[in-house]
Amino acid sequence: MMSKKIKDILKKKDKKKIVSLTAYSKNYAKILDKYCDIILVGDSMANVLYGMKNTHKISLDTIIQHGISVRKGVKKSLLVVDMPKGTYKNPSEAKKNAKKIIKRTNCDAVKIESNNKNFKIIREIIKAKIPVMGHIGYTPQFNNTFKVKGKNEKQIKKLIKEATSIEKAGAFSIVLECITPNTAKMITNILKIPTIGIGSSSNCDGQILVTDDILGLSGFYPKFVKKYINLNTVIEKAVKKYSKDVKNKIFPKNKNFLYGK
Ligand code: KIV
Repeated sequence: MMSKKIKDILKKKDKKKIVSLTAYSKNYAKILDKYCDIILVGDSMANVLYGMKNTHKISLDTIIQHGISVRKGVKKSLLVVDMPKGTYKNPSEAKKNAKKIIKRTNCDAVKIESNNKNFKIIREIIKAKIPVMGHIGYTPQFNNTFKVKGKNEKQIKKLIKEATSIEKAGAFSIVLECITPNTAKMITNILKIPTIGIGSSSNCDGQILVTDDILGLSGFYPKFVKKYINLNTVIEKAVKKYSKDVKNKIFPKNKNFLYGK
């Protein structure tokens, strides 16, 4: 039985663009929830929050902890939690860990990066009634160096086969990361499930970006990111003012006292 939220995402294919962003905590999630169809607790938190050099070492417990926080801010969007590297090595482990994510975070679905081999794993998780979002193209858990995918015939054929195998396995949508515009278009046209692009042009059914990147907080701004604000500067200005106020005894004032004078 497919949930209403998943059905609503599927219905948007070829009709309305799907809006998605990442969130790692409640306060962000609460704001994003008003404008997003899908919120992803991405393993990109490894780089963005924890300053790790890649996403390979973020643990299941850490992702779950952030998922619990994000859940508190999400009411209407579909909440997807990433399965970290090493947590879906075989079908039984994948099923056990996906169930743990769902049970602890109360999210709606999990996301799994494809290594062009784990279709059976995706099928097994779905058999356990857990919706899965696929992820192909540049997959940081399995690629050490950043490369645009789908540039030649061989790569195009491979990506199309991978995407159709993930759809066949039962995934409800698929992230296309850093895939050429033409290949993204072909995959989007072939699949019945929606494609969510990141660095893969507007030829996808929806878009996802890392929230800290669009807010100008992460310091990571590749060409496919649009920085909508420079929050770094905004936060720095506020903190600088607070620091000055404390030093100059401007804060706290009498009105900030909880008791007496
Ligand atoms: O971890 C993440 O944030 C992601 C998105 C960038 C798709 O996988």
